[in-house]
Amino acid sequence: MGALEGKITIITGATSGIGARSAEVFIEEGATVVLAGRRADVGEELAGRLGQNASFVRTDVADEAAVKALIEDTAARYGRIDVLFNNAGHGLAPVGIAEIDMHDFDAMMNVHVRAVVLGMKYVAPVMRAQQSGSIINTGSVAAHRAGGSSQTYCTAKAAVVHLSRCVAAELGEDGIRVNSLSPGAIVTGIFGKGIGLDAGVADRAVAEISARFVRAQPIPRAGMPEDIARAAVFLASDASSFVNGIDLVVDGGAITGTRFSQGMAGRKDMTAALAKMAEQG
Ligand SMILES: NC(=O)c1ccc[n+]([C@@H]2O[C@H](COP(=O)([O-])OP(=O)(O)OC[C@H]3O[C@@H](n4cnc5c(N)ncnc54)[C@H](OP(=O)(O)O)[C@@H]3O)[C@@H](O)[C@H]2O)c1
Repeated sequence: MGALEGKITIITGATSGIGARSAEVFIEEGATVVLAGRRADVGEELAGRLGQNASFVRTDVADEAAVKALIEDTAARYGRIDVLFNNAGHGLAPVGIAEIDMHDFDAMMNVHVRAVVLGMKYVAPVMRAQQSGSIINTGSVAAHRAGGSSQTYCTAKAAVVHLSRCVAAELGEDGIRVNSLSPGAIVTGIFGKGIGLDAGVADRAVAEISARFVRAQPIPRAGMPEDIARAAVFLASDASSFVNGIDLVVDGGAITGTRFSQGMAGRKDMTAALAKMAEQG
């Protein structure tokens, strides 16, 4: 029996990357998954491939009516919603604070923060009625560490992490768990799309990104969507029934600090200079 047997799940941003792999793994674990995203051709193809326990609903998460319909139609169709994985997101090429385009800023907040609020707003009554549920919101190491991504993205993800804690404190009283899941550097098309590449091309740029992510963290391999999907299974499953209000960071140790070997290399010059002083007395 799978870890998610019979769990009715909605995954947003399920047409590629972390969301697509999560949909595959959730199905393997026995869940019924409603995949959401804007690219209908890609989503329909993936859902078709995943079989009768998968379906796709074209949804722009920046559109309140679309999010409301996604959730209410899923609840009407299955009679319940056990898991909502608010995962949709996009990247943004970093610029300085004086160069920020407020259209980009608003779009980032709409998709990463407002959409997560909308998802929780409309799923809360459904989960309250059943007195159970697991909400997973995709954060990022960018929520914890400045400088690696645009200030706009970092701020949006920090908001997602804290928003999740706030709602966990409220919905926990109804047996509903809310956690954020913060990936480190994961090989997906988000980076290519963020600099304007066609989505299909960006989603296929696996080798180019993998090679650059091998040394992005202490664990010496690139992070993959699979790594996040497995953590999402844990948060969605009954194995985490006492886990509420946490941010589960899955980053190969990236935010623990500088890699040890890198830190030691950085100290080499200073150590040599000090040793020389000691020799000279
Ligand atoms: N990859 C990383 O290193 C990394 C690190 C930390 C956090 N994250 C986060 O992980 C999440 C998934 O990203 P990913 O890396 O898997 O990138 P990805 O492969 O580009 O996936 C992004 C997904 O979000 C969907 N999406 C974007 N805007 C949307 C909108 N307005 N409405 C509905 N769906 C929308 C996209 O689908 P459509 O194009 O079909 O709409 C796609 O399915 C994001 O929240 C991202 O910020 C990623």
